[in-house]
Amino acid sequence: MDLVISDKTHDEGRQGEALVLESASQRTKNNGRKLYIESYGCAMNFSDSEIVASILSDEGFETTADYTAADVIFINTCSIRENAEQRVRNRLKEFTIAKVKKPGLVVGVLGCMAERLKSKFLEEEKLVDVVVGPDAYRDLPNLIGIVDDGQKAVNVLLSREETYADISPVRLNSNGINAFVSIMRGCDNMCSFCVVPFTRGRERSREPLSIVKECADLFNQGYREVTLLGQNVDSYKWKQPHPTLPGREGFEEDSLKVSPTGGDLEGVEGAATVNFANLLEMVAAISPQLRVRFSTSHPKDITDEVLYMIAKHENICNYIHLPVQSGNSRVLDLMNRTYDRDWYINRIDAIRRIIPECAISTDVITGFCSETDEEHQDTISMMDYVHYDFAYMFMYSERPGTLAAKRYADDIPDAVKRSRLKEIVAKQQEHSYIRLQTQLGKVQKVLIEGFSKKSDKDYCGRSDQNAMVVFPVNENYKPGQYVNVMVERTTTATLIGKIIN
Ligand code: SAH
Ligand code: SF4
Ligand code: F3S
Repeated sequence: MDLVISDKTHDEGRQGEALVLESASQRTKNNGRKLYIESYGCAMNFSDSEIVASILSDEGFETTADYTAADVIFINTCSIRENAEQRVRNRLKEFTIAKVKKPGLVVGVLGCMAERLKSKFLEEEKLVDVVVGPDAYRDLPNLIGIVDDGQKAVNVLLSREETYADISPVRLNSNGINAFVSIMRGCDNMCSFCVVPFTRGRERSREPLSIVKECADLFNQGYREVTLLGQNVDSYKWKQPHPTLPGREGFEEDSLKVSPTGGDLEGVEGAATVNFANLLEMVAAISPQLRVRFSTSHPKDITDEVLYMIAKHENICNYIHLPVQSGNSRVLDLMNRTYDRDWYINRIDAIRRIIPECAISTDVITGFCSETDEEHQDTISMMDYVHYDFAYMFMYSERPGTLAAKRYADDIPDAVKRSRLKEIVAKQQEHSYIRLQTQLGKVQKVLIEGFSKKSDKDYCGRSDQNAMVVFPVNENYKPGQYVNVMVERTTTATLIGKIIN
């Protein structure tokens, strides 16, 4: 079968126009075709799937939650660890069966694994028809057309500009209350263990007014919480384009002085650049009823300015995800994290000083190249210092092409990685429990998200500090409203209480 490698990008206006013309003729053809998307990996991937759904719904596609009913199956993939890729390959096997039953079914691989493996994917997984990297989603209608014509198609071009700023995502699996909003793409950090800079390309920030508009639209539709997403939100930076360049429209000198909803943007006035603290304030100004969360913060870049901004606005949640990876300075250096143990502790102290009630979570990797037992103990002692509310903990998984794969031996035996992980998980369970206990007898402001998983006699929602809170349904309140909940007891991961409004 022929393979078409598309190099259409949105970077040049001329090619963008060509895409628009082509899609007009595709649109009628696709009317009513059903699209199923399954997402793996981080929140950015889930958010991208909503952009994909939007691009294809403009082409006449309808989304379905049932893959056996679909005409197009997309799997939006993650490469972060080997087992993430394995999970995708297993799932693809199940789609093989669907394809045998339904000739003409299009199966596509999107996202980070698509970018990492490129056309190799088509050789390795025979059922796959189309492989599309994270910056090429505008080309999807064209690529599906190529597959409909009996060929296989690939577009894995990365872009320095694409942020999908103008696309309003179709919310998938939404509760109508919380939404993810991408504020930047890519990553320039080159942590030695990490595949993301290779799969997502260079870091670029999305135009701030398009972010504020998306959040304000969500608020007007009834959403009450947005999570601003980027691999390193603290390096968000938008420079006003020069007046003669395209993209300057709607960005007049004064346009940053007030938010679209008229909120106060003190401190932003006249700013030629918008940094993350400024952006937080712009989004927080939409309404005090809109909660603002964000992820992920980077220890090397998180500034006191951001911390003061969180402290200043009640609706910017007191919760920071600040991945430490390791508590040992030599390992952090090998990881190319560009901070050391003392720097990280300095940032934790700043959070505790400026936002005393702030919850902090982290990511930890065990068994990174050459990590000794003592160095592992430094991670444990860091956990004892911080008392994280929550942690995501992983065994190091070597990723092809990364700096670590090229420079260092993956020399810690699996059994050692696993036993260190076990120790860290046990430590974290202890700390999560202690942190939850500090909430006993206190009143939490909770945004009701819906019924609890276990019973429709209970509501669940999260506190400002991102703790899950469960409490009996009270018919005066419904999902999307805020309630004050008195915490009466805890399980290992949840606060339990009752409404005391
Ligand atoms: N941008 C975020 C992290 C994104 S990846 C940051 O800089 O913190 C999410 C987490 O996956 C990382 O924080 C790290 O803990 C883990 N991770 C990344 N690459 C990994 C690898 N090769 N092996 C194991 N864990 C990894
Ligand atoms: Fe990966 Fe580091 Fe970028 Fe996070 S900051 S995505 S860990 S390279
Ligand atoms: Fe995975 Fe890509 Fe996110 S590798 S963690 S889906 S950026």
